[in-house]
Amino acid sequence: MSSLFVRVDKKQYGPLTKAELRDLARQGKFTPDDWVWNEDEGQWIEAARLEELQGLFRQEVVPEGEKVVLAIGGGKGGVGKTVITASIGVGLAAVGKQVVLVDADLGGANLHTCMGIVEPQFTLYDFYTLQCNTLADILLDTPAKNLKMISGACGTLGLANPKYTQKVRFIKELRHLPADYILLDLGGGSSYNVIDFFLAAENGIIITTPEPAAVQETFNFIKVCLLRKLKLAFREDPEVMALLDRDQGANLTRLDSRIEEVLQQVRKLNGASASVFEGILASFQPKLLLNMVMSPEEVKEGMAVKVAAHDLLSVEVDYLGFIEYDEKVRQSVKDFRPFLLEDPSSKASRSLAKLITLKLLEKKGLSAYLEKRKMKREIKISTEELQLAESQLNPPICSVRCFYWGDCEFQNGGYPCSVRHFESLFRS
Ligand SMILES: Nc1ncnc2c1ncn2[C@@H]1O[C@H](COP(=O)(O)OP(=O)(O)OP(=O)(O)O)[C@@H](O)[C@H]1O
Ligand SMILES: [Mg+2]
Repeated sequence: MSSLFVRVDKKQYGPLTKAELRDLARQGKFTPDDWVWNEDEGQWIEAARLEELQGLFRQEVVPEGEKVVLAIGGGKGGVGKTVITASIGVGLAAVGKQVVLVDADLGGANLHTCMGIVEPQFTLYDFYTLQCNTLADILLDTPAKNLKMISGACGTLGLANPKYTQKVRFIKELRHLPADYILLDLGGGSSYNVIDFFLAAENGIIITTPEPAAVQETFNFIKVCLLRKLKLAFREDPEVMALLDRDQGANLTRLDSRIEEVLQQVRKLNGASASVFEGILASFQPKLLLNMVMSPEEVKEGMAVKVAAHDLLSVEVDYLGFIEYDEKVRQSVKDFRPFLLEDPSSKASRSLAKLITLKLLEKKGLSAYLEKRKMKREIKISTEELQLAESQLNPPICSVRCFYWGDCEFQNGGYPCSVRHFESLFRS
């Protein structure tokens, strides 16, 4: 059977290839209860009864090699790592990718509030205290289709400061999750707690704003990453370690000479070590995303990171693009919703959608256009479903019985009540 006709909700679709049908099944749009035209019998029969379609409905395990683990980090706090992680997840899920967001901010887990989950039923704490056996057991549903999340908890991974090997093991465990993309929201700063997750994930996006302080910290983040990578590779080589440690004193993040000069010293020591050194430099190509950009001038200022990383560290930063400063993003945080769902047509949403299709999904030309259109359509449906669900779940509750009634500005009725949203946050 090369092409198929199917009937879903009394509507007929086709001809479809088996690959197209598999995609629909993965997105939950085609189920074993839907109908398929059976040429042999000349009649419609339930998909569940067709032997050759059974494979479509089995939980597909994405081969580990095809999964993308992407860490979102950056030296400066408050630059938008969490809100962008959440919205990248929404965008990828909208085009049918299975996505899991992971809150790996060991100090201040807050990704769940961004996804509208005020009190997560499970967190990483349940996994590490063995109350849940696998990471799949602590997956939480989110308001978006194909998008799940793992909520963080302070001081998880068993320890406040897990070792490098524990962090690598954690990333390996994440790879067992049934997903195409696993996105890690990292905490701010350049401590090894953050850097190690960034490096272990293999794919990383560094987010920065264009202000000088953020640019400086972003450069520092790249430098610490590179030094950590080199030091892990040369930990058994005292001569190279001495070169890397030179002039650093107690401050692990200093490296006063250009990395090219250090490499020249390594070349004098030993050709094989120099090749390893060069390989590490060539393989480390972090992606850079500028956020909260207000003018084209600011884009140029933010790009200073790329130039400095090239000149001083010999690191090629892959510039992904920028997202404008947009009040809609701030509003979405107040509404506990990813900004791509809050307003898909806002400036920030449009820039991010473009970046996801062109840079993360690597679509070009017509296929980029079609993918973006699909994303827009799916997000619009999700937004409408969410608004409907919220209006049904949260009818206006203004009432004299309300705890805040005495000083409530909505006394004559009013919706939404912003105070009520915060109540459960403070309780937890
Ligand atoms: N493009 C934008 N336009 C306007 N405001 C933004 C934008 N991006 C982020 N913000 C604002 O910045 C605030 C901080 O964002 P977020 O919590 O994602 O930062 P973070 O980098 O994860 O911080 P931390 O390092 O503390 O984890 C958000 O509450 C949001 O209001
Ligand atoms: Mg954050």
